[in-house]
Amino acid sequence: MRILGIETSCDETAVCLIEADGAFEADLPRRSESKAGFRYKVLGNGLLSQAALHAQYGGVFPNLAKREHAKNLVPLLYKALEEAGILLPNTMPAAGAALVPLKQMLEREPELFALIVPFLLKFQKPDIDAIAVTAGPGLEPALWVGINFAKALSAVWDIPLVAVNHMEGHIVLSLMDTRGTDIHSNILQNIRMSGRLAKFEFPLLALLISGGHTELVLSKQFGVYKLIGETRDDAAGEAFDKVARLMDLGYPGGPLISALAAEAREENIKGDFSFTRPMLHDGSFDFSFSGLKTAVRNVVTKREMTGELKKQVAREFEECIADVLVAKTLRAVEEHDVRAVVMGGGVSANTYIRERLAEALEKADASAEHLVPPPELATDNALMIALAGYFHALKEDFVAAENLNARGNLKLS
Ligand code: KG4
Ligand code: ZN
Repeated sequence: MRILGIETSCDETAVCLIEADGAFEADLPRRSESKAGFRYKVLGNGLLSQAALHAQYGGVFPNLAKREHAKNLVPLLYKALEEAGILLPNTMPAAGAALVPLKQMLEREPELFALIVPFLLKFQKPDIDAIAVTAGPGLEPALWVGINFAKALSAVWDIPLVAVNHMEGHIVLSLMDTRGTDIHSNILQNIRMSGRLAKFEFPLLALLISGGHTELVLSKQFGVYKLIGETRDDAAGEAFDKVARLMDLGYPGGPLISALAAEAREENIKGDFSFTRPMLHDGSFDFSFSGLKTAVRNVVTKREMTGELKKQVAREFEECIADVLVAKTLRAVEEHDVRAVVMGGGVSANTYIRERLAEALEKADASAEHLVPPPELATDNALMIALAGYFHALKEDFVAAENLNARGNLKLS
């Protein structure tokens, strides 16, 4: 089955075409050795990050994101389909008639309309079985662009639609065994990869840490999720971004702080201050990171902002976040007899947090597998949407265009 994934929930515009075969569920818990098991191949991929554009605002500016998605989707689709070798010139002279409904469908997306019409006139319907698009959670104006794009392609090409929960995409991506594949990651990256399911058993626990979310999600079978903990205020990634802003480091803050913290550890630099680990012993699986920002502000406003101080703050901050994430995850592993811990979302690219969790899981009595995405694929991309889309398409879990809406607060269930 060929699935086209489309992602526009935040500040990455991404399109990915995969070819996937095999059952997702039957493969487990027997592990992924069997020939009948799930496997996939990336046929074509396009991704543009807007991070540099949003940097001037210190965070994602929704209307700018929307405009950029509208500008980027058609060129990225072109790239993905061309890479896949399935873009053929249109020889049907009457093709224009099929585009008439688009005028109304894309009434609110004039930039997208102007780009999609010539594209659809020029090329034939490609050989694709389903179009999967992120329906939420995310920034609604941004989500709508991707959704309207998917609806337009679905209507003109007569291809069914799948609505994907972005967080499920992060989970499903982390379940893939990507060992031995070569991942080139750059802006406008080419992901040339294939894979199958990693070895794991249920129940699994997902630690989802991104710019918008910090969640602990328990899953006892494919596609069924229970939220057992979440942040009560700022998300982990948001805390990284805000602290980076306090120190004038730039956006996104995660990789910048992480690099400074690594230098501090290497050079043995440690501050004479410490931040309270928020909600560490409160007994819940919830998180709270907004107080940390205040703690950081207290330190940086009272002292001269030297390079040394930046390193000290970055280190203490990163260790504080790691302590809380690791402790809560470990407690959830023990309490729910978890067999596999999956990390997903942009913050899961963080090497230090990954290593801390891996160490803790190794030391723990309960032996749980640790599944992490390749760092290049920890942040948003469309491969994760195509993979989760395949899982739903297999179950014929399609959605009618009139029922497909952007849902900024969509929850996993
Ligand atoms: O999943 P993602 O790409 O987008 C959302 O759905 O939010 O996550 C983006 C977030 C940003 O807050 C960014 O600062 C953070 O992930 N991030 C990191 C790292 N790389 C990205 N945080 C900590 N360490 C990193 N290496
Ligand atoms: Zn994300």
